[in-house]
Amino acid sequence: MHHHATHQVHAGYEPEAPHWPVAVPIHQTAAYRFPDHATAAAMFRLETPGFTYSRTGNPTVAVFENRLAALEGGIGAIGTATGQAAVALSLLTLLHSGRHLVASSQLYGGTVDLLTDTFADFGIEVTFADPADPPAWAAAIRPDTRAFFLEAITNPLATLPDLPALADLAHAAGVPVVVDSTLATPALYRPLEHGADVVVHSATKFLGGHGTVLGGAIVDGGTFDYGAAPERWPQLARPKARYGGQALVDRHGRGAYLALARSKFLHDLGPSLAPASAAQFIQGLETLEVRVARHGSTALTVAEHLAGHPAVGRVHHPGIPGHPSAALAARDFPHGTGSVFSFDLAAGPEAVGPFIDALELFQLVANVGDVRSLVCHPATMTHCRLAPDRREAAGIGETTIRLSIGLECPEDLIADLDHALATVPASAPAAVPASALAGEVR
Ligand SMILES: Cc1ncc(COP(=O)(O)O)c(C=O)c1O
Repeated sequence: MHHHATHQVHAGYEPEAPHWPVAVPIHQTAAYRFPDHATAAAMFRLETPGFTYSRTGNPTVAVFENRLAALEGGIGAIGTATGQAAVALSLLTLLHSGRHLVASSQLYGGTVDLLTDTFADFGIEVTFADPADPPAWAAAIRPDTRAFFLEAITNPLATLPDLPALADLAHAAGVPVVVDSTLATPALYRPLEHGADVVVHSATKFLGGHGTVLGGAIVDGGTFDYGAAPERWPQLARPKARYGGQALVDRHGRGAYLALARSKFLHDLGPSLAPASAAQFIQGLETLEVRVARHGSTALTVAEHLAGHPAVGRVHHPGIPGHPSAALAARDFPHGTGSVFSFDLAAGPEAVGPFIDALELFQLVANVGDVRSLVCHPATMTHCRLAPDRREAAGIGETTIRLSIGLECPEDLIADLDHALATVPASAPAAVPASALAGEVR
């Protein structure tokens, strides 16, 4: 069993004859020739594994899937066209009309749109709960609850969940836990080791790492036993005509969840990862640990500087004393909490525009996890469609600024921020929403 750094470079790929290419080849093909009719028929009956058509699988995508599964400690993975597709498919595999989800109140804005709008159209109900308040999750569980969903490090305030506590609650209620680990990456945190059952990623961010391609992934730990309560999981544990009258748990055992996600949802809805994009993610994974370490150390240096700046009201980084997740960071994140964090300007909302426009190195971009440092104003950008009460519950204020720290020199980044902070008029510290303090570790 190799270490993490070795898996990053080798897992899921062995050069093969006749050419023995050292780097993973891009299999730029839509389809695959079958050796004969009997093999084709067996593969279409899902009896024989193999590639039939690149919507449901591709050899280059498979290397990315297997490498990420090795890094997360999962039994397998599915690559998707975007992180948004990974989140959607991971949950649709567990939920359908009439089912209920308990989700963190601190989520990426696009995920909130998915849960509150599109899932509502599908008849899936959602209750939001504070990720740092396990009793609130216990209180939200209903007989029709079929999943917990949360982010390993929240976007944009870098709040950390007490995942083992939440997983215990979910499992006691017979419910699996899905964790979006986009901001953590397996270089910092492996949710399956802390009680999660499924991990999802927007590979667009740190896994690719260079802001060039969109993609996502679902990794299954194979830990949740859907066969233990077949009446709760008919899609996995009851015979289906689509699967030759068999139940997926009988056909695939611990692989049933991924089999359903791939053969039904990836196949029917079609958000497949392109092989050329998978190749870029494979290359990104090769340098993940070194990049993430540098991103994180620069982010902490910048956060510490901001915490001492008079134009800054509050810095939302778990490495800064007083952050509600400082204790969880020390317990569960020995390699740090990454490089996406936020701070509030100590001024009114009118200071936001001039501050952002004065930045020269930080680019105003709706993305994170790039080699370039990025800035964003969540209240008017990524989280602008959140209802005001939901935005306040997420702790996002009107002057909250999100940073994604890149790989530039920390001194240059600090100089750029100082230059822009000089535009902020001196004033009393901006009010911090009460809910931002409600995330204390209890
Ligand atoms: C935490 C998180 N999850 C999911 C997504 C969606 O990923 P994508 O943009 O690749 O669809 C994002 C995008 O910003 C994100 O930050």
